[in-house]
Amino acid sequence: MQPPLGDLDVDRFMARYWQRRPCLIRAALPGAQPPLSRAELFTLAGRDDVESRLVSAFDGRWRLVHGPFGARSLPARSRPGWTLLVQGVDGHHRAARHLLDRFRFIAECRLDDLMISWASEGGGVGPHVDSYDVFLLQVEGSRRWRLGPVRDAAMVPGLPLKILSRFEPTEQHDLAPGDMLYLPPGWGHDGVAIGGPCMTCSVGFRAPSRQELLRHLLADAADDPGGDDPRFTDAGSRATRRPGAIPGALSDTLTRWARDWRPRPTEIDRAIGCFLTEPKASVWFDAPTRPPTPARFDRAARSHGLCLDRRSRVAYRGRWFFINGEACAMPATGARWLRALADRRRLAPAMDARWLDDGDLVRLLRTWLGHGWLRFGSDDDA
Ligand code: SIN
Ligand code: CO
Repeated sequence: MQPPLGDLDVDRFMARYWQRRPCLIRAALPGAQPPLSRAELFTLAGRDDVESRLVSAFDGRWRLVHGPFGARSLPARSRPGWTLLVQGVDGHHRAARHLLDRFRFIAECRLDDLMISWASEGGGVGPHVDSYDVFLLQVEGSRRWRLGPVRDAAMVPGLPLKILSRFEPTEQHDLAPGDMLYLPPGWGHDGVAIGGPCMTCSVGFRAPSRQELLRHLLADAADDPGGDDPRFTDAGSRATRRPGAIPGALSDTLTRWARDWRPRPTEIDRAIGCFLTEPKASVWFDAPTRPPTPARFDRAARSHGLCLDRRSRVAYRGRWFFINGEACAMPATGARWLRALADRRRLAPAMDARWLDDGDLVRLLRTWLGHGWLRFGSDDDA
């Protein structure tokens, strides 16, 4: 699928702009259409399994309300100065997921999600800074973006959302449908709907932080049932006269455990893959009510192939395959099919469907289908 970069060569984009500097791309996706209508977006914002926010600045007062939003709980569309933001639209809508497929020139484990905002005239979320890389694709109406490097990260105190106190934009661009602005992390930006309402798609890429990884790694190590788990003993210790104090021997042993703890290389590999493919807390999978028998699985997979559910996150590295926060060792002969599944998000129903001859692979695929992580057919059929 063609990257949505207009005339800009993808390798040039990666070398010159990605993670380095903002890039305005006029006609990045000529003829771009909203992947879903405003009414569909508003309906999604009414669901309790969808994360949504309403930001308004009526009479100069910033307000943030979290969804879900019933049909009558949003301000009138004609009222200027408000924005509805819906997170993770790719997990719920086929055309939204397809839009993300155009961004597969970046490793998918860096992908966060597709957020879509609808703003009434003058609506925006104020000048702020994100820790993510973001592609802001205009799909309806016009938005004026002002941007600049953040020299002072102080936020306006006492507000329900993070607004930069001293935003000094160095550029301003008016985006029309099909235009796109790429921003690396740390650039201040402020987008406002101009000339009427507008819709913007934000394709976000997460840059994991060290603390996030460590949290995962430590939680995994703490939960490892087979892990080495020595327990402190203090046989032979004397009666204490200061029961409130931490005994020296206890403190020394715990300090040594903390200092000497080293994850094994496999533990690190597993933790990285599980961390990078962990679904967001709001994601739920719909497991089939009746998982197919082996014979039905074989028939259906042979004639329709398999595809990943839109919400599934997968990745591979070396002898590990990761799916939705779980790790599995690559099956010996099926590894290339799993890699193909991760790279293309589907296994096509080839006439010779050779992947169906691999028993270990088929067992994994059936299990994942039973969890709702895979489906028969292609995402176009959904
Ligand atoms: C918006 O779509 O209104 C905000 C997107 C962003 O600034 O990241
Ligand atoms: Co932003």
